Amino acid sequence: MQSTTAVRCLLAWSLMVVTVSAALYERPSYIHPCRRNDPEINKCIRNSLNFVRPYVARGLPELKTPPLEPLRIEELAMENNAGAVRIKALFTDIVALGAGNYTIKEVRSDLKKLRIDMSIGIPRVETRGKYEVIGNVLLLPVRSNGEFWTEFSDITAIAKIYGKPVERDGESFMGIEKITVDFTMKNARFKVKDHVNTQNVLGEAINQFLNQNANELIQEMRPAASQSIGKLFRKFLNEAFTNLPTRLWLLED
Ligand SMILES: *[C@@H]1O[C@H](CO)[C@@H](O)[C@H](O)[C@H]1NC(C)=O
Repeated sequence: MQSTTAVRCLLAWSLMVVTVSAALYERPSYIHPCRRNDPEINKCIRNSLNFVRPYVARGLPELKTPPLEPLRIEELAMENNAGAVRIKALFTDIVALGAGNYTIKEVRSDLKKLRIDMSIGIPRVETRGKYEVIGNVLLLPVRSNGEFWTEFSDITAIAKIYGKPVERDGESFMGIEKITVDFTMKNARFKVKDHVNTQNVLGEAINQFLNQNANELIQEMRPAASQSIGKLFRKFLNEAFTNLPTRLWLLED
């Protein structure tokens, strides 16, 4: 008798949990789920990520992700301690345009290990914001702050996503443990308006230097930039995926 009551209680409780979680998490219409045993699962993931692009661009309130277009970044710190460019840079109030025009070109996944690698193309990214830089460039001391503008074009990025299991509200999620990013680009242009050295001649010289050495600067700053961008997108994707139970984007049957 007692055990029947216990079983009933348990049943009622499970039903409640299921009902509550069903109400908590529903599949947003823009999520095209993939099947775990689809032999073309990588293509499926790629297509789903490309399909969701305009929604990601506008922001996904259900998944608590802010708009990607424009992408507003409060703060991005970079430090480079090797080579010809040894600087500490802090970029703030950044507005980036163009990330929402991404195309996922290829996906390789091993979802049992919660691993997804992808190559991403972005035609053009324009950023502006404020900066503070201190350090040495080619042995010359640099100390500057002001406003910056950049344009990068034909960007190809390789992102490696390392997921981790997260359990919450009786649901399983893929949390994002780490993302490593590496990128190449065809072209970069820079402009800075220095608030310290206000003479125009020097400002022009700095801009000329930046643009004439764009490729070298990017090469030098690439590891530091990759790390900051990886951290940024880890936060972004972690927010999205920990609000989207795995069952809603990965079907088991
Ligand atoms: C993104 O793509 C649209 C449509 O092709 C284009 O109008 C827009 O300028 C692009 N954004 C950037 C920053 O290049």
